[in-house]
Amino acid sequence: MCVLDLRCIGISRLASRKPAAPPVFLQCLHEHKTQKVTLLHPISEFEKAHSKAESMSNSILVTGGAGFIGSNFVLQWIENVATPLVNLDLLTYAGNPANLVTLEDDSRYRLVRGDICDAEFVAAVLRDNRPRAIVHFAAESHVDRSIADPSDFIRTNVLGTFTLLEQAKLYWSGMDEAARRTFRFLHVSTDEVYGSLGWDEAAFSESTAYAPNSPYAASKAASDHLVRAYFHTYGFPVLTTNCSNNYGPFQFPEKLVPLIILNALERKPLPLYGDGRNVRDWLFVEDHCLAIRTVLERGRVGETYNIGGNSERKNLEVVTTICNLVDEFCPDDGSGPRKDLIKFVADRPGHDRRYAIDAAKISQELGWRPAVEFESGLRKTVAWYLEHRSWVQNVRSGAYMDWIRQNYEERVQP
Ligand SMILES: NC(=O)c1ccc[n+]([C@@H]2O[C@H](COP(=O)([O-])OP(=O)(O)OC[C@H]3O[C@@H](n4cnc5c(N)ncnc54)[C@H](O)[C@@H]3O)[C@@H](O)[C@H]2O)c1
Repeated sequence: MCVLDLRCIGISRLASRKPAAPPVFLQCLHEHKTQKVTLLHPISEFEKAHSKAESMSNSILVTGGAGFIGSNFVLQWIENVATPLVNLDLLTYAGNPANLVTLEDDSRYRLVRGDICDAEFVAAVLRDNRPRAIVHFAAESHVDRSIADPSDFIRTNVLGTFTLLEQAKLYWSGMDEAARRTFRFLHVSTDEVYGSLGWDEAAFSESTAYAPNSPYAASKAASDHLVRAYFHTYGFPVLTTNCSNNYGPFQFPEKLVPLIILNALERKPLPLYGDGRNVRDWLFVEDHCLAIRTVLERGRVGETYNIGGNSERKNLEVVTTICNLVDEFCPDDGSGPRKDLIKFVADRPGHDRRYAIDAAKISQELGWRPAVEFESGLRKTVAWYLEHRSWVQNVRSGAYMDWIRQNYEERVQP
């Protein structure tokens, strides 16, 4: 039996929420109706000024808002900013509407299922919702999948971003002068576009040359270049953020942190690439979401901002820390420490050795800094996964994909 202290993981009860919807939804949807992750960041003055809207006017459009970072962003936005948000998401295997079930009855939130590669669809969403900004998360995001088959990465990350940019530019061109001046297109990208660092090399800055090494990184680099070109060629008001590895609630269990938490819990082998000494910089997802809001609010048009957690860790350290946390939360039945389950496996082809982010620009220009220290963020994350077993079960079984088929196949919006 797991010993879990909810006070230490920042989960609070939403006593004022209505009871769960009838079980048309998955079981896990009920779980999320009554719980939420406490948000760490206060509302800003700019956001207060925009928080009076009652309809979908003054909305922003988010793409990929049902994925890991996107759903954290949507929840944080509705909690803190209060202006409406339209979520355009294809709901691939990585997009899970259960993440956002607490917003089901919230008139400020709308989900439209569709593909960013579909120009007509994107144009219709823009026409119908008239957003004042776009925050673009939608992507294929798993490096290992990109190695097995890059085609979806080229399609969504490159062609999809191109289609979205093109339709957004057309939409923006038709706005009146005042609306055109304040419109923003924020492109969410990754530190992986910069390639790999040696042990003693300086961290990636915004002027580091691009040198992507995986098909995922290459497809994101291509999208970053398109975004840049739309600013320089057409004056289209873009912002780009390049962030390090995120961790936190709602991450699909194919990625390192949730994979290790769940395997450790179930005492399955814990696969670790190569010698486990590859270094990543880690950022708690809510910190990333606040950084994006900060750049959207105050970033200089045409600029890129690196976002990082000042938390470089070797993969082996990350995995060992998770094992220790699972041991602490779920005391042992005599089977020994979970770190004994670590199994070194053949390295990922082209595996980058080290990523590190120099986040001085966003800190000095915009005043953003990570608020969550790595060990405490990891503690919250482990606790969240242990507390949300039915969410995990539904994601793993693919049950939420059945729900998507039933609910969307015959009524694709808008
Ligand atoms: N996860 C990280 O550590 C990290 C770090 C830095 C940057 N990023 C970037 O942040 C963004 C979000 O990452 P994530 O980890 O949340 O990804 P994710 O894979 O969890 O979610 C991607 C979302 O995009 C949607 N999507 C995929 N293809 C689509 C399409 N053609 N049209 C519309 N929607 C589509 C999916 O349904 C899903 O909801 C990505 O652009 C990624 O490159 C991620």
